[in-house]
Amino acid sequence: MSAEIISGKELAKSKREEMKKETARLKESGIVPGLAVILVGEDPASQSYVKAKQKACEETGILSEMDHVTTSISEEELLTKIENLNKADHIHGILVQLPLPDHISEKKVIETIDPEKDVDGFHPINIGRMMTGQQAFLPCTPFGIVEMIKSKNIDIQGKHVVVVGRSNIVGKPVGQLLLNEHATVTYCHSRTKNMQEYTRSADILIVAVGREHFIAGDDIKEGAVVIDVGVNRNKEGKLTGDVDFASAEQKASYLTPVPGGVGPMTITMLLHNTILSAKWKHNLNGF
Ligand code: GUN
Repeated sequence: MSAEIISGKELAKSKREEMKKETARLKESGIVPGLAVILVGEDPASQSYVKAKQKACEETGILSEMDHVTTSISEEELLTKIENLNKADHIHGILVQLPLPDHISEKKVIETIDPEKDVDGFHPINIGRMMTGQQAFLPCTPFGIVEMIKSKNIDIQGKHVVVVGRSNIVGKPVGQLLLNEHATVTYCHSRTKNMQEYTRSADILIVAVGREHFIAGDDIKEGAVVIDVGVNRNKEGKLTGDVDFASAEQKASYLTPVPGGVGPMTITMLLHNTILSAKWKHNLNGF
């Protein structure tokens, strides 16, 4: 078997074209979705993510405001900035790029963001809403993964989903979203015994551990759908996922590449959430 590739890049492109039309329609009613991004410090990876988010906003008709501050900012000063953005009428989404320096509490930062502007979907209120199936901002990477699976009309109901990794940003919420889609979900993590027993029984395998070649063809059931969330730099400086692509391709029915897979969808769902936030604020339905 040679897997069909699910191109996040292609799906992101078509979704962004739709969003561009949506922002143009909103503009006719005087609504311009606005995203505020706060970047603390000079971490190169964070800088490049933030730049990509801003560029995507610009291309989609979303206003983006960037506040780049040095690591000498105090926690209190940062929280004040967030409180001011909570009050700003033209801002519908607030994103504080993580990780933050050690002297600033991520928990306090996330909990200071107004849940109605939490387009990352990290606030405990949004996580609780997501878990109970209420209207919520869904975290962007898990949301993007579900969209990729649905884009191929893959049936999720009753399927065995195995999530490898249990981070708050990806592993835990993606399992929850797929549970909401009526999958049977198993989580594997660093203390799981006999992990291969689980991965080999997965109809849909989601790998988010941050280790190159963590999963190979031998760990995959014939015909499984394999979603690779990893973003690793190998010794040659090349971007790679958590899944050994060449061997996985021989076993899986569908497979996501790295780069060009989950990554472009994460930013796309951030745009989606920002537009949605602007629509909800003006009592318009989602899209
Ligand atoms: N750092 C890595 N991924 C993310 C993300 O999705 N949102 C924020 N705010 N920071 C991140």
